[in-house]
Amino acid sequence: MIQLKYIEHDGTSHTVTVEEGMNLMEGATLNMVPGVEGMCGGICSCATCHCYLPEERLRSLPEAGSGELAMLEAVEGRRGNSRLGCQVVVTAALDGMEVRLPKSQGVGS
Ligand code: FES
Repeated sequence: MIQLKYIEHDGTSHTVTVEEGMNLMEGATLNMVPGVEGMCGGICSCATCHCYLPEERLRSLPEAGSGELAMLEAVEGRRGNSRLGCQVVVTAALDGMEVRLPKSQGVGS
């Protein structure tokens, strides 16, 4: 199991364990982390799994595909380290990673 820390826009953090091979959206939704809805079920068509990843981890990941990049064009608060959680597979290399969540996906936003 891989440990991840999801951090809401207000600083509230949730440390969870996620099975290798799942994706970051599944890791959040299965652990009831607020701010990650995953409305499309992970088929890259809703962008409700938008998250910010640390630059050093981002560099070690496969690059975003064209579908993910197209969806990211439309998200509020996009940054250079934005990814869609459903497109990032959890591996041992991500153990201990912090996943920050955008304000636009906060509870009540
Ligand atoms: S869950 Fe819909 S785009 Fe990621």
